[in-house]
Amino acid sequence: MKKLVSEFDISAEQIQDIAWKFLRAIESGLSGENSSLKMLRSFLRPPTGEETGKYLSLDFGGTNVRAALIELCGQSYLRQISYQAQLLADPVTGYDLGSPDVTAEELNAFLAGLIDDVLMISPEGVYGLGYTFSFPCQQLNLDQARLLCWAKGLQTKGVVDQDVGRLLQNALAKRNLQDRVKLKAILNDTVATLLSAKYRDKEVDIGSIIGTGHNTCYLEPLEPLHNEPMIINVEAGNFNGLTLNNYDLRLDHNSENPGEQCLEKMVSGKYIGELFRLIIFDRIEQGLLLNSRDKHFFAEPYSLRGEDLSALLADKTAELSEVAAWLGKYAVGINSTMLESRRILVEIAVLVGSRSARLVAATYLGILLHLDPLVDRKHVIAVDGSLYAKMPGYAAQVNSALKEILGSKAEKITIRANQGGSVVGAAIAAALG
Ligand code: GLC
Repeated sequence: MKKLVSEFDISAEQIQDIAWKFLRAIESGLSGENSSLKMLRSFLRPPTGEETGKYLSLDFGGTNVRAALIELCGQSYLRQISYQAQLLADPVTGYDLGSPDVTAEELNAFLAGLIDDVLMISPEGVYGLGYTFSFPCQQLNLDQARLLCWAKGLQTKGVVDQDVGRLLQNALAKRNLQDRVKLKAILNDTVATLLSAKYRDKEVDIGSIIGTGHNTCYLEPLEPLHNEPMIINVEAGNFNGLTLNNYDLRLDHNSENPGEQCLEKMVSGKYIGELFRLIIFDRIEQGLLLNSRDKHFFAEPYSLRGEDLSALLADKTAELSEVAAWLGKYAVGINSTMLESRRILVEIAVLVGSRSARLVAATYLGILLHLDPLVDRKHVIAVDGSLYAKMPGYAAQVNSALKEILGSKAEKITIRANQGGSVVGAAIAAALG
């Protein structure tokens, strides 16, 4: 275990070092120099909280797809009029709209269908649409966004390099919806999270997602190209100033995009389950955990997810009976594990989960240092995503990592869970458009 601990441990010194590297990558990316951070312009200014009207919103992030009609009532108040949600991959048939044999037309027909469903249960009228599209996009302006590359395992063909707004509008036109739905804004989910939190609280200046994927955006007070305040999508998941251990290297090597999304592959829900699986598999193979005949239960890539780590970390029983139940459920047949094995499983989950939280904290620190080098002002970081919301101890570890470095100045930083921001933020962006 000692070796494993040293491979996953992130000391306070390393947090500081990563924060500085992240800060440098932000500044290079902003000024157009070579950087692993794409620093993508959103063409969005912050909302005042006084925006009003009814807007359609579409949220496409990789696992779930949601559409809604939302009324912004001003004075920071809003309400949802209708709502539809579906999974990208059909749980019954296994048909996955993110797979490489699916076309852009098929994917967009599905998205337009979801908007149509919302319109059917909504009052008559013409609506502006905000489209949260949670992948790296080069915005040409607010309603034109070219997909730079897929992330989080999606591979649908014919979308990379295309304007995702146009693809959606074509699909809407095929359903004769072009007169009822007017695309106003395309935005990243981090940007949507920031907008939805800022609609209610002026102090919010950073938005972040820690879920299937990981990314952060912030409000740049004076964006150099346009000389005005603008939200910048950092595409933090692609940060590459980190030392990869053996497991990170293996995961990256076998992924669909080797060399890309380095930070995301160390922190987000899609990948930490896989890191955990690789470690367990190795330890069984080396005779250090469970029984060698159990190895094949852990042989399938991506069979474990962030949720599995959360389930193990939630077990507070002395006998770790929930871990035993998890093992029995996951690998039918493994039900007589010794307490020691269950403890080791939890320890490994702690190592992988803590590293994720501490790395994310280091990148938040990098952004804070860019915005406010002496951390003199108040900052609110709005965070959405299943890992942040559901992994036991995760939020506390992000906070305590910041405290380790900033001491009492950490009191100026509030990190706040902000669920559902991707849907609401799209409506706010449409109102700003
Ligand atoms: C991936 C995408 C990014 C998105 C994040 C969270 O990192 O590249 O755009 O914000 O996932 O969904």
